Amino acid sequence: MSHLLVTGGAGFIGANFVHYWETQHPGDTITVLDVLTYAGNRANLAGARAAFIQGDIRDTALVEGLLGDRNIDTIVHFAAESHVDRSIHGPAAFIDTNVLGTLSLLTAARSVWLSGEAKPHRFHHVSTDEVYGSLGPDDPAFSETTAYAPNSPYSASKAASDHLVRAWHHTYGLAVTTSNCSNNYGPFQFPEKLIPLFLINALHGRPLPIYGDGMQIRDWLHVEDHCRGIEAVLHKGRVGETYCIGGGAELPNITVIDTLCAAVDAAFAADRTLATRFPEAAAAQGRPTASLKITVTDRPGHDRRYAIDETRARDELGYAPARDFTTGFAATLAWYLGNESWWRGVLDGSYRDWVATNYNVR
Ligand code: NAD
Ligand code: TYD
Repeated sequence: MSHLLVTGGAGFIGANFVHYWETQHPGDTITVLDVLTYAGNRANLAGARAAFIQGDIRDTALVEGLLGDRNIDTIVHFAAESHVDRSIHGPAAFIDTNVLGTLSLLTAARSVWLSGEAKPHRFHHVSTDEVYGSLGPDDPAFSETTAYAPNSPYSASKAASDHLVRAWHHTYGLAVTTSNCSNNYGPFQFPEKLIPLFLINALHGRPLPIYGDGMQIRDWLHVEDHCRGIEAVLHKGRVGETYCIGGGAELPNITVIDTLCAAVDAAFAADRTLATRFPEAAAAQGRPTASLKITVTDRPGHDRRYAIDETRARDELGYAPARDFTTGFAATLAWYLGNESWWRGVLDGSYRDWVATNYNVR
């Protein structure tokens, strides 16, 4: 039986991880530590048994107290500022949370787990493939040995946090692992990232703003596969190592966007109630969703291509993504159509109705 502290557990991936872990490991306990920024929502954890503490990872004394009082033996660290566009407009928050926040957690972990007789423990750090920079069209995919070359304030802050985690292992003997994953998608993703933003804009008949030529390439990872990957690292990963976790779905943005537009059209054609629920949608007015596409000024410093070589994860952990993009995207579209009150609540800051309807709790 393990006792987990999940930081950022009310955000997109953290919440999916809590739900996944509670299903797979019902005997374990989970404490979520989340300060609830704009991206964190209690509703994401509705139905979860996890204890919820609203607090900041930069509060080292708070974290020390939680680790001691709750006998925590495993930290899974998701808490971060996570959106590249926000990092361009306001980089300081990314240094505060991603760098100083990770330092605070490491400090607390070291003081509770390593002072006196060392306790069995694991500190797992969730990071991104963006720390490796940008690939040319024919470059080999990122692997654990690719040199770091972060290009955005977001990826620079995550790179710094990765280095801190590595140093706490080498210098102090903290038992750490790190995973660097590709672009996640799935339920509970805040509608500022490409897929949920474009889905919700499409349902409102709003423009779909494509940065630059739309030929930037990302590897798309269904969030549940990511959770399985982290589980594999926790159970089978070598302490001190990093693992690249990918979705095996390298696609140009324009292909993702065209898939999304066609899927929305097909959903409206198959279910006539959607036109009543979303009368502003192009698909409700006899126009293709793709007619909403517009080209906007490119993101400054926009990375051209990310790709993951997951040989290490496959060989050492037996990890392989279970969902291809077609099935993962179809499930994601169905989730957003079926959970309208969730995303409306996220957008207007009120989640009560969605929680009450889905979980009969208040
Ligand atoms: P998110 O923005 O949806 O959620 C982040 C969560 O962290 C929120 O609940 C927020 O309230 C919480 N948080 C922020 N600052 C905090 C603080 N100081 N103290 C406590 N909680 C705080 O992010 P996400 O998309 O779920 O990403 C989770 C992790 O995975 C991040 O570390 C991110 O860098 C990494 N990652 C994400 C992706 C992706 O595609 N979303 C890809 C690779 C890596
Ligand atoms: P995003 O979801 O922000 O993830 P990341 O920047 O971490 O990869 O963006 C995914 C891709 O989609 C990225 O190449 C930027 C592009 N994009 C747009 O073209 N328009 C948008 O409005 C957004 C949010 C992203």
